[in-house]
Amino acid sequence: MSKNQKNMLIFGDAQDMKELDDNSVHLVVTSPPYFNAPFDYPDLFESYDEFLELISNVAKELKRVLDRGRIAAFVVDDTLIKGKKYPVVADITKIFIEKGFKYRERIVWVKPEGYIRISRRSGVLLQHPYPMYYYPDNLQESILIFQNGDFDYRKIPKELKEESKIDIQEYQREKWYLSVWQITNVLPINNRLEKGIAAFPEDIPYRLIKLFSYKGETVLDPFMGSGTTLKVAVELGRRAVGYEIDIELLEVVKKKLKFGQRTLLGDPSDFEIIIRDDIKHLRTQLQERVTKNSRGK
Ligand SMILES: C[S@@+](CC[C@H](N)C(=O)[O-])C[C@H]1O[C@@H](n2cnc3c(N)ncnc32)[C@H](O)[C@@H]1O
Repeated sequence: MSKNQKNMLIFGDAQDMKELDDNSVHLVVTSPPYFNAPFDYPDLFESYDEFLELISNVAKELKRVLDRGRIAAFVVDDTLIKGKKYPVVADITKIFIEKGFKYRERIVWVKPEGYIRISRRSGVLLQHPYPMYYYPDNLQESILIFQNGDFDYRKIPKELKEESKIDIQEYQREKWYLSVWQITNVLPINNRLEKGIAAFPEDIPYRLIKLFSYKGETVLDPFMGSGTTLKVAVELGRRAVGYEIDIELLEVVKKKLKFGQRTLLGDPSDFEIIIRDDIKHLRTQLQERVTKNSRGK
């Protein structure tokens, strides 16, 4: 990042990443708002098309800010709303390919049984033990890996490669080599900091950052939420940048990044906090919409 060497918390809409130079980011690790998911984001979007437009605009910006050959990792899942499934995984994949990314990989993140937070649809068959009543409980999400063209491996100095070397024992012990990752999810009900945020577990950015970025490089999360990606990025010696439209999450992010504590992940002065003028306006618009839609039910 040439414009600014500090870590950055930017409270603004990720559809416009004007604070970031072209090709200034080395890795993106994120999970977008789950399209109107019943627990976390009911009525956030007026339509599925509006959700896809957000993803499309963000993908366009990511194509600009990501350096050549670098990775954008999106943790997503198809969303079930009132019995209807929305093909979020397929649509996001299509959007990224259309924006010029290479579809490199899909890792399936499997959560432990018993950690399901939303619908236990499997009970339908117990009530009606006949064909056509089968609705399985969902235990997985997808980690979509897109690449911005080919990576030039020769560009990385030997010392930096050694500094960022992957621990082979950890790689084998934790089975990173498989396309299925067994990771326990965060249950926000028991964890006040992430309540209502749909945070992902630290192990997801931990693996992705180690596997797809070098020390000192810039890791971006365009949908920062509680700041999980940023926390892990800083812990792993990377520079962190996050965008978030919900200004109320500033305190949550500060807490997660341990601002003001002695065990600080770096110094708070290493962080620049930008609050865009349009952010308050956006929040009001969003709240008005949620209130309006829930009244209309
Ligand atoms: C699924 S959450 C991310 C959770 C995060 N991975 C964590 O571990 O805490 C998605 C976040 O995207 C934010 N968001 C939604 N639309 C946005 C936009 N246009 N620009 C920036 N952030 C946005 C939401 O407010 C929400 O906090």
